[in-house]
Amino acid sequence: MIPFFPPDLFEDERETLLETVRTVATAPEQRFILGSHTAHFEERLRDHLGAADVVACGSGTMALSIVLRAMEVGAGDEVIVPAFGCAPLASTVIEAGATPLFVDIDPWTMVLDPDLAEQAVTSRTTALMPAHMFSVMADMPRIREIAQRHGLHLVEDSAVAQGGSLLGHPAGRWGDAGVFSFVQVKTFGTAGEGGAVVTDTPELGRLARMLRNHGQDGRTRFTHHRIGYNSRFDEIQAAFLTHRLPTLDDRLQRRARIAAYYTERFAPLAERGIQPPPPDGDGRCYYVYSLLAEHRDALRDHLAANGVASHVYYPRPLPHHPAFAAFAPEGARWPNAERASARTLALPIFPHLTDAQVEHIADTVCTFAPAAHETTAGATP
Ligand SMILES: Cc1ncc(COP(=O)(O)O)c(C=O)c1O
Repeated sequence: MIPFFPPDLFEDERETLLETVRTVATAPEQRFILGSHTAHFEERLRDHLGAADVVACGSGTMALSIVLRAMEVGAGDEVIVPAFGCAPLASTVIEAGATPLFVDIDPWTMVLDPDLAEQAVTSRTTALMPAHMFSVMADMPRIREIAQRHGLHLVEDSAVAQGGSLLGHPAGRWGDAGVFSFVQVKTFGTAGEGGAVVTDTPELGRLARMLRNHGQDGRTRFTHHRIGYNSRFDEIQAAFLTHRLPTLDDRLQRRARIAAYYTERFAPLAERGIQPPPPDGDGRCYYVYSLLAEHRDALRDHLAANGVASHVYYPRPLPHHPAFAAFAPEGARWPNAERASARTLALPIFPHLTDAQVEHIADTVCTFAPAAHETTAGATP
């Protein structure tokens, strides 16, 4: 079976990882969080992105919460989020005390539709929080324009897009603040959890640094200026990620080559109900490669029968989850998010897939015969 996320992600770096544990664990200072490795990692990432500040924290989810809190988004505020995506897009807004305004997505790229986002702005809207999706970055130039026109904070959820760039501008650098996730399987993953806030606004950076450590300012211990979180960064992860940063581009290029090959192979499959993402170009990020398939569940079975694991991101729109249903206005619909939930299917795209495996995956998709599956659950009217 070709796995979707392989268990040997860090096999080539296992010795470095073990050495990193030894180095941190035997250092005289015995510092395991927010020490010199974290400071060095933040500096390296800041230089890599050309940003004014990077604040490493416990996860991508916490990075979103910290940014919202630093922007003082809270009770009475509305935040525009895509109706399709990862749960933290909604949960962090609700946890901040604000209301998520779910906005539909583009039917092909599956990212926030900027026109609908602008139509959704009300006098209570204080922030826009688009997210890059699994193969395509959000339309940041237009979203930034909308944020500026309406005086809204712009939070760029780049949890899945580290290393992507649009019009020469790196993912994470388009908003007032950007957010990354370093969880194991991400393009810039580590052997555990982690996240970061990226910003050019010194005050946001200062507040994020404070909020990740219970609202303390780093100088006077046990004086809490803000109600913060415990979202401190781990020294072992910092050292390991610093080691992984210089090779990130190579891994991303390999992902992009695999994606380009898939897209070329799948382009003629439209009459069989299979639609790859828009062809390669600017603003792509290949954490996972998601296509749209009318007979998604049958295609998934066909892949499994041929030894290929796949994944459904996500089987339902955000406002359809029990946890977020209270924020779904009665009778509201998100037709493109609903359609994407029924059709999206992600294929393996990790960098150490062999060429033969990539070819096998593409061949398997291309040999799918939808006629036999016309009544499967994955098909939508
Ligand atoms: C769009 C998006 N935002 C936020 C997150 C949260 O990141 P983390 O898992 O590091 O908390 C994820 C995780 O996959 C994500 O896909």
